[in-house]
Amino acid sequence: MGKMNKGIFITIEGGEGSGKTTQSRLLKDYLENLGREILLTREPGGTVFAEGIRKILLSPTSRPVPLSELFLYEAARAQHMEEFVIPALKAGKVVICDRFTDATVAYQGYGRNLDLKLINLLNKKATFGVSPKLTVYLDIDPKKGLSKAKILDKEFYGSDGDRIERESVLFHNNVRKGYLSQAKKCPKRIKVIKTQSTPLKTHALIRKYLDAVL
Ligand code: TMP
Repeated sequence: MGKMNKGIFITIEGGEGSGKTTQSRLLKDYLENLGREILLTREPGGTVFAEGIRKILLSPTSRPVPLSELFLYEAARAQHMEEFVIPALKAGKVVICDRFTDATVAYQGYGRNLDLKLINLLNKKATFGVSPKLTVYLDIDPKKGLSKAKILDKEFYGSDGDRIERESVLFHNNVRKGYLSQAKKCPKRIKVIKTQSTPLKTHALIRKYLDAVL
């Protein structure tokens, strides 16, 4: 199989309001212009079944205990991997996923204080051992990010944000700690990128790392 036929798995992570959805789209456009076939997807979600789980998880009226929250993220992941991501990688596509296993370590591990060993085990099972070649972590001050996310929610959806966005700044600070500690542990895979003054400036920084995995 030639190099161009090999699938590449890239994940984008970041705090609330870090602009990771915008960055995923810019990445998709960039890679499409290079002639690659792209699957842009997200977790939790991607497939019909997993989008259903996403609705339950993000609804502000849901009240899951931490362990059920963890299981639902993993349930959505297993479905998404088997139905969507793994076949796309096998077909040679570049898969760009907005959030993945590092989010579970950060949110359920550092945010909810669940056992990291259990999380790592479930991550391994739910991904069928498939891991990203490159993970971009968009780093933003949680307080700043949250207020950005909230303004967008109000403007576009007239809402006060999803269930996780409504968590305290303290929770989101712990999430950030989780991401940074993961990045320290896996410096080859996870690249920390500070969000810049404009999306295009941030995109330019991401591209530096991207070219190395293409
Ligand atoms: P987002 O698509 O806006 O990032 O929403 C997904 C939310 O779910 C976000 O607040 C992060 C959270 N999340 C977890 O808590 N654990 C996970 O494993 C994943 C994938 C997301």
